[in-house]
Amino acid sequence: MGKLKVGIIGAGSLSEAHFEAYKNNPNVELFAVCDLIEDRAGKKAEKYNIPNIYTDYQEMVKNPELDAISVVTWNNTHKDISVAALEAGKHVLCEKPLCLNYDEALEIKAATEKTDKKFMIGYVRRHASSIAVLKEVIDNGSLGDIYYAKASNLRRLGNPGGWFSDKSRSGGGPLIDLGVHVIDLLWYLMGRPKVKTVSANTYNKLGNRSNIKALSFYKAADYSPENDVEDLANALIRFENGASLMVDVSFTLHAKNDQSGAVIFGDKGGAEIDPSLVIVHEKNNVILNSTPQMDHPYFNFQDGFQNEINHFVNCCLTGEQPIGGIDDGVEMMKILTAIYESAKKQQEVVFE
Ligand SMILES: NC(=O)c1ccc[n+]([C@@H]2O[C@H](COP(=O)([O-])OP(=O)(O)OC[C@H]3O[C@@H](n4cnc5c(N)ncnc54)[C@H](O)[C@@H]3O)[C@@H](O)[C@H]2O)c1
Repeated sequence: MGKLKVGIIGAGSLSEAHFEAYKNNPNVELFAVCDLIEDRAGKKAEKYNIPNIYTDYQEMVKNPELDAISVVTWNNTHKDISVAALEAGKHVLCEKPLCLNYDEALEIKAATEKTDKKFMIGYVRRHASSIAVLKEVIDNGSLGDIYYAKASNLRRLGNPGGWFSDKSRSGGGPLIDLGVHVIDLLWYLMGRPKVKTVSANTYNKLGNRSNIKALSFYKAADYSPENDVEDLANALIRFENGASLMVDVSFTLHAKNDQSGAVIFGDKGGAEIDPSLVIVHEKNNVILNSTPQMDHPYFNFQDGFQNEINHFVNCCLTGEQPIGGIDDGVEMMKILTAIYESAKKQQEVVFE
């Protein structure tokens, strides 16, 4: 089996996790890098000894030696880059969110149907070692039917600015950036039920808050304080099987501190995922909280990315089906698009 020749499009902040994980995979040759900013691509090429540098992804995907690409660019470019790469016969790993909205997701799906190449979405939270353990517990039936899940990811001061807060490039604020991670993770653990109704709210009350002193926060690689995305989103999602999921996420909020949590509840047991894995069940009329012993019981960034990229590479080389393929992306974009629609109309969105 030859090495997979990989190219990375987008050499900004998050791309480092992709470069590192590919570098650590013995079946990969880092072969090309592309960024609109040539110097940024050049620095990665130097650091990772990559022979081909591009500023135009359309040129890069034409390279006949390239086997697979990672899309690590602004959200508004994911659809065009993914479609171009699939049409050029490349395997694609696309960062979350899949794209800007449901219609774009269907365009990518159409492109996947015309090729035998693999398409995977970078839902890194699914690839955490703790989630692999929990998924097996769920698949063995130990939690029974999962009927409720709840997630929160509230940043009190964390609007990254730049493209993240420019709706034309991001598609939205904390919902499409942070919410997509936790909604996808819980939906995956719930058995990927079909969405039935969505009722949601978004608020644009606080803006970027670049006025705040004495507290630092994560900023986009090309930071600017302009902002036209929501600061806060909440949603109640009901599924065809009767299960429900509640979520709230923020870029900024008058909260005492950052807050996050993710929990699922079944009729035989439950699990707390954030901040670390605890499995809850009942035995001999006693409630037991079990803490599985593992290297990474909480979400660990590099562990998640290494597992994700090893899985993608394995799928490309062996034909295995990826965890997090296009159908999952389409259903997630349906949910996210419905959340924004419900908030805008101030009405429940109902799917027939
Ligand atoms: N999985 C995660 O945990 C996670 C974390 C952060 C970001 N992300 C995702 O990764 C993607 C990139 O985020 P980031 O934080 O690295 O942003 P960033 O701004 O740091 O980097 C994006 C890079 O893409 C380049 N770019 C934009 N359009 C391009 C195009 N058409 N061709 C070539 N290069 C282009 C920009 O010049 C920039 O260098 C986003 O989709 C984001 O949602 C995922």
